[in-house]
Amino acid sequence: MGRLSGKVAIITGASAGIGRATALLFAAEGARVVVGARRQSELDSLVAQIRDAGGDAVALAGDVRREEYASALAKLAVERYGRLDIAFNNAGTLGEGGPSTGVSADGWNDTLAINLTGAFLGAKHQVAQMLKDGGGSVIFTSTFVGYTVAFPGVAAYAASKSGLIGLTQALAAEYGPQGIRVNAILPGAVDTDMYRTMNDTAESQAFITNLHALKRVATPEELARSVLYLASDDSAFVTGTASLVDGGVSITRT
Ligand SMILES: NC(=O)c1ccc[n+]([C@@H]2O[C@H](COP(=O)([O-])OP(=O)(O)OC[C@H]3O[C@@H](n4cnc5c(N)ncnc54)[C@H](OP(=O)(O)O)[C@@H]3O)[C@@H](O)[C@H]2O)c1
Repeated sequence: MGRLSGKVAIITGASAGIGRATALLFAAEGARVVVGARRQSELDSLVAQIRDAGGDAVALAGDVRREEYASALAKLAVERYGRLDIAFNNAGTLGEGGPSTGVSADGWNDTLAINLTGAFLGAKHQVAQMLKDGGGSVIFTSTFVGYTVAFPGVAAYAASKSGLIGLTQALAAEYGPQGIRVNAILPGAVDTDMYRTMNDTAESQAFITNLHALKRVATPEELARSVLYLASDDSAFVTGTASLVDGGVSITRT
């Protein structure tokens, strides 16, 4: 029996990185998974990989900025699998960075639209379904950036991601009585496309690596295992948390 046997999960940002690794792990642990992101071909190859391994998955491509997409993902979970137990709202972008005096209003708004509003719209439709199903676990992907460590040049990213922590607490308080747990996971640096885009030189990768107590960055699979904990009944009494999975980047000063 897998740790998510009989559960149905939605995972956004599943075409790559942390979301893809989490979809593979959830399916291996027995969950039936609905995977989302914009890139159809990446989702198709993920679904094929899950099915080849004996799991069950379905994909729906779309943009988390659109509420219709959030609603369609929740509907698909119910149409295909009959219920919804777990939602990992993980899609995200670095957005427009650089000196904050130069950040455009459009760039700011778009970063918040994807990272914060997109996650809220996802949760809105997921929670509505979980209320009918008697409970569930919602997880948002935040970050240590803007929470325990500040960097220049990432104001929109930091603001959108720390906004998720307030959203986590508000939803956890609001729906705890109905058995819905809501948590944020706060990764340190994780070796994904996003990390490599931001750190495209050996010097920059060495700098980031050294910030972590473990003197390395995480693999997406390591993050997936922590998301599995928050999704599963192993964390049955855990809600409203900002859960650092950060290799000690938050406590390191050397
Ligand atoms: N890597 C790190 O060091 C790190 C650290 C802390 C937090 N995080 C967070 O972890 C999450 C996953 O990032 P990652 O590192 O795995 O990077 P990634 O490989 O670049 O994955 C980002 C995912 O988000 C999806 N996405 C982006 N914009 C979207 C949109 N508008 N609509 C739907 N899907 C969208 C992408 O899919 P499509 O392009 O196919 O749409 C992709 O699947 C993000 O929220 C990120 O902020 C990452």
